[in-house]
Amino acid sequence: MKRRDFLLYGGSTILGGFAAVQAAYGATAANRGKKRILLVGTGSRGSGFWGKNVLEKFGDQVEFVGLCDSNPGRVAYAKGLMGATCPVSTNFDELLSAVKPDMVIVTTPDAFHHEYIIKGLKFGADVVTEKPMTTDEKKCQAILDAEKKAKGKLIVGFNYRYIASFTRLKEMLQEKQIGKVTSVDFHWYLNTSHGADYFRRWHAFRKFSGTLLVHKATHHFDLLNWLIDSDPVEVFAYGDLEHYGKNNAFRHTNCRSCPHKEKCRFSYDITKESGNMKLYVANEHYDGYLRDACVWRKEIDIFDKMGAVIKYANNVQVTYSLTTYSPFEGWHIAFNGTKGRLEAWEDIPWLNKVEVSQDQLHALQMSQEIEKDVSKYNQIIRMLNFQKHEEILVPKLRSGHGGGDIKLQTRIFKDPTAPDPLGHAAGSRDGAMSILIGIAARKSIDEKRPIKIANLTDLVPQPVRITKT
Ligand SMILES: NC(=O)c1ccc[n+]([C@@H]2O[C@H](COP(=O)([O-])OP(=O)(O)OC[C@H]3O[C@@H](n4cnc5c(N)ncnc54)[C@H](O)[C@@H]3O)[C@@H](O)[C@H]2O)c1
Repeated sequence: MKRRDFLLYGGSTILGGFAAVQAAYGATAANRGKKRILLVGTGSRGSGFWGKNVLEKFGDQVEFVGLCDSNPGRVAYAKGLMGATCPVSTNFDELLSAVKPDMVIVTTPDAFHHEYIIKGLKFGADVVTEKPMTTDEKKCQAILDAEKKAKGKLIVGFNYRYIASFTRLKEMLQEKQIGKVTSVDFHWYLNTSHGADYFRRWHAFRKFSGTLLVHKATHHFDLLNWLIDSDPVEVFAYGDLEHYGKNNAFRHTNCRSCPHKEKCRFSYDITKESGNMKLYVANEHYDGYLRDACVWRKEIDIFDKMGAVIKYANNVQVTYSLTTYSPFEGWHIAFNGTKGRLEAWEDIPWLNKVEVSQDQLHALQMSQEIEKDVSKYNQIIRMLNFQKHEEILVPKLRSGHGGGDIKLQTRIFKDPTAPDPLGHAAGSRDGAMSILIGIAARKSIDEKRPIKIANLTDLVPQPVRITKT
């Protein structure tokens, strides 16, 4: 690891005595019959969605037996925030052998997922990893190899499949309502609030996120693979960085101390957010990580506009784009079939009335509060050839990624064997196929040529997806 990476995310300190932990904790928790979880990466997603939220909603099924993070201050804070009583450490290996979990949950930055997935699988635990499964093809192959030899299984946290509009589209496509699908157009728009936030955080560097073609688009590529129900075979892409990063006249290290903050439209005042002050700012002296880093830093090396054409093994072709500085946040998808077309979207201002500001929208998407008002709907338009279009209404939820978060966790923690007629549950093959599109797209941009998915790992693309999870 280079010194800069070490400062951002390095270090290893044992907090507390392991012998005592091993003796006292390992035994008592096992006797309670709950799933025993070790979580690594206690940042926003780890301490919140997979931490506090899991304890609140599934505390009768699961128990945290260890929390690990490379930042000793953050892991200690996360324990209090979650209301957990388990040991915390910056040393994953020692914690793993001391607390002997049934399940490891991995919520570190993307480029480190593979280390913990592989260690968890080798130990014999089930592993749940946040998306993206990992960031390059070598790490992907290492994960697939580890899982082949493992007793436990790997689950990839694809919450977007559970969003009501995508679930309804899956049903309609499975019923072949528009005949055989031939092509798909999919466009995702990140706004100047949520989109900009990727350029403030570790995501801004490909060594941590693999670029947004992997970090963010893994969600979208997984949806495409699942909805088209086939594997990708070839990807050609273009991308560039021409809004954030070097593309501004002024810049600083971060917003708090910035001399340009009055005139910068992208200035972020973290001091107004007490949660982020406690989670990040209070612990930045341990690793130097600035949560409010400047979106104009010259070193930023990810793309901010991306477009890809993806060819599938069943001959479907997809046109995909991701924009990171759109004035609105939303998406649009259309399936062209031999008998007609399905079209759906969310939050395109002139197609439906947006009741909240763009900043509120992002806060709602990340929130895990159960939404009271389910009286709002998204539309799906079905238009069969030579007929009038019909409007299908789907309930619209915003919190917890369109209601997907809670459904994903219910399956993992409460009801893993519940019937799954649409195949919502995602395993390592799904995790791999989605990132391989992003990895191929990144390679295609770098090398200016189409990339074959079969040349990246030993996975052989299939005309019909293998759904083993
Ligand atoms: N599914 C979703 O919708 C969704 C939403 C948000 C985040 N995520 C995923 O969750 C993961 C975490 O994202 P986040 O927003 O919480 O980031 P974050 O920066 O808030 O948290 C990451 C944590 O990992 C720790 N860390 C860094 N390097 C480490 C290492 N080598 N070993 C152990 N700990 C390390 C950091 O100190 C930090 O506490 C990412 O993979 C991200 O893609 C998924």
